[in-house]
Amino acid sequence: MDEERMISGENLDELEHTEEMSLRPQTLEQYIGQDKIKKELSIYIEAAQNRQEALDHVLLYGPPGLGKTTMAMVIANEMGTSIRTTSGPAIEKAGDIVALLNDLEPGGILFIDEIHRLPRFVEEMLYSAMEDYFIDIIIGEGDTARPVHFPLPPFTLIGATTRAGILSAPLRDRFGIVSHMEYYSIESLSDIVKRSGRVLNASIESQGAIEIARRSRGTPRVANRLLKRVRDYAEVRADGIIEGAIATKALNMLNVDKEGLDSVDQRMLEVMIKQYNGGPVGLNTLSANIGEDMGTIEDMIEPYLIQEGFIQRTPRGRVATEKAFDHINSQF
Ligand code: ADE
Repeated sequence: MDEERMISGENLDELEHTEEMSLRPQTLEQYIGQDKIKKELSIYIEAAQNRQEALDHVLLYGPPGLGKTTMAMVIANEMGTSIRTTSGPAIEKAGDIVALLNDLEPGGILFIDEIHRLPRFVEEMLYSAMEDYFIDIIIGEGDTARPVHFPLPPFTLIGATTRAGILSAPLRDRFGIVSHMEYYSIESLSDIVKRSGRVLNASIESQGAIEIARRSRGTPRVANRLLKRVRDYAEVRADGIIEGAIATKALNMLNVDKEGLDSVDQRMLEVMIKQYNGGPVGLNTLSANIGEDMGTIEDMIEPYLIQEGFIQRTPRGRVATEKAFDHINSQF
């Protein structure tokens, strides 16, 4: 790790010159982390621009809070085009999707969050839209029903989903660019926290940023939320400077433990260990015990616990690892 960079945080000065900085990065250069995706996208974006074509359709998948919406906005900005955003459940009628696509400027971007929750008939309408830029729909009913052909401007669909596996194969196959967003390293998160600190005008020391980064579940959304709460604590209980010790105290108060697990993670591990002796425990049993629905456990809670080696998924259910036993037992 580059020591100077960690201590001064001044590298961020060079990264940013804009007066109006936003917590969301605007360009690929400002975007911290996800290096593989950024490298690939920068090539595809440059190639599409050189050919003066719309960028191929992009599917971004990965756990919530990793910056899928932000990345879609960055892509639009880098392509120099406009973006309209919506979400799977918000599109209810055939007319909704026709209107959204028809309103796009040529080469424009439609971002559909939670694309796995699109109604099936809308998904089927997207096939011809994505492949050949048209939609055929039937207007009216009974004797007055007639087919209408809507040619569309060339466009880019950016879809975001927590799990690519639950998308239907025909839809998934129509995305030319499929990118998996990964949990962020502590170094990247610490850079994000420093950058956000500057945007929010909060004074933050390197060690404070690292403490927050360490406890953010690999997720910028969590890091930025913790930063705001730690700033409150530092302003009220200290001189406002977010140094390591203050950050640690604030984070302890927020019930985020040393491994970055929040109270829901901790409850899930406790249930597995104390009530089921480490498992295997079925998803529905876990869901009933901790009061979170199965989708939330699968999409939000367990991916991080699996990645960090606290639980394993087996055919007979979830199993707590030795690391989970050590961690939970060390707290009592
Ligand atoms: N804020 C939230 N996520 C970010 C990222 N990946 N890079 C820079 N700033 C961010």
